[in-house]
Formats: sequence, structure tokens, C-alpha cells
Amino acid sequence: MPTLAVYPGSFDPLTNGHVDIITRGARLFDRIIVAILVNLEKSPLFTAAERVEIARAVFKKLPNVEVDTFDGLLVDYVQRRQAQVIVRGLRALSDFEYEFQMALMNQRLNGRIETVFMMPAEQYTYISSRLIKEVFSLGGRVHGLVPDMVEERLREKVAGLRATS
Ligand SMILES: Nc1ncnc2c1ncn2[C@@H]1O[C@H](COP(=O)(O)OP(=O)(O)OP(=O)(O)O)[C@@H](O)[C@H]1O
Ligand SMILES: [Mg+2]
Repeated sequence: MPTLAVYPGSFDPLTNGHVDIITRGARLFDRIIVAILVNLEKSPLFTAAERVEIARAVFKKLPNVEVDTFDGLLVDYVQRRQAQVIVRGLRALSDFEYEFQMALMNQRLNGRIETVFMMPAEQYTYISSRLIKEVFSLGGRVHGLVPDMVEERLREKVAGLRATS
């Protein structure tokens, strides 16, 4: 049976850390679904539709990468997609405690789904979406840390936000 993996996250926005994990996942699994969490409580910088568009464009040449959205319980989504694996990225020790809790909770909720942790290439270990947004909004350079399309979209977004404030 082909192995289908789900890589869930906010991806607000997609960073080269995410791209690295997805690329590794696409080599390891038959198919990997980038599952963008649509969380109505949070107020994301990019809409779900924008995040989907960006991820689809970045991975258009990798046929076994699929981009989708989900809400609600992750294990329910994974089961509905008939996937067997949840992929998560680990950057540093600081990710570990939360990821450990989530993995064990998900194991309890559905014992047939395995969580697999992957490490990014060293140069991406300090990147987070939050840090990218913070640095960019303060005028810092994020070139090389996010896909070119994300850099462009960030520029447009920040210009748009300035114009309306
Ligand atoms: N640079 C990175 N290297 C490896 N894994 C990463 C990296 N950035 C995020 N991840 C992992 O990707 C998954 C989705 O993360 P998420 O969408 O929360 O990104 P994030 O960068 O942590 O965003 P935020 O800063 O908004 O929390 C998580 O498993 C997270 O640990
Ligand atoms: Mg995070």
C-alpha cells in the first residue's frame, strides 16, 4: 500500500524551512499532503486561499506534493484522507516539548497513525513564520529564508497594510 503523509501547519507564510521538510518528505513517502490549518480564531497575515496558492506554485514541479486545507482535529483529517503518517519538523529543543505532547495525544486519539519527525538542513533550523513576519515588517532582509514568491507577497502585503493604516 502506498504511504501517504500529512504535513500540517499554519504556513503563514511558507518558509524555506517548510520547503526543506516537504522536499524531504516527498522523497520518503509516496505522497505528502501539505495541510494548511484554517483556524478562525487566529488572525493570519495571509488568507488560507493565499497560502494554498503559494504552496501550490512552489511545489508545482513535485507531482507527489498535494496542498489542501483542514480544520478541526488533525487525526480526523488524516483518517479521512486515508493517510498513515503525520510529518512534523523539529528545529530545536524548544519545539520538542510541544511536539512530544501533540504526538502522544494524537497517538491516543488514533493509534494507527504514526508521527514522524524530520530535521531540516542546518541553515533553516532557526527560521519560523513568526520570525520572518517580524523581521520583514521591521525592514529586515528575508531573502533566502523564504521562497521568492513569498518575499514578493510579503512586500505587497506590507505595502497594502501601510496604505490602509
Ligand atoms: N525551519 C523549520 N525547520 C523545520 N521544521 C519547521 C521549520 N519551521 C516550521 N517547522 C515545522 O513545520 C510544522 C508547521 O509549522 P508552522 O506552520 O507552525 O510553522 P512555524 O514556522 O512554526 O510558524 P509560527 O511561527 O507561526 O508558529 C511544525 O512541525 C514546525 O515545527
Ligand atoms: Mg509553529
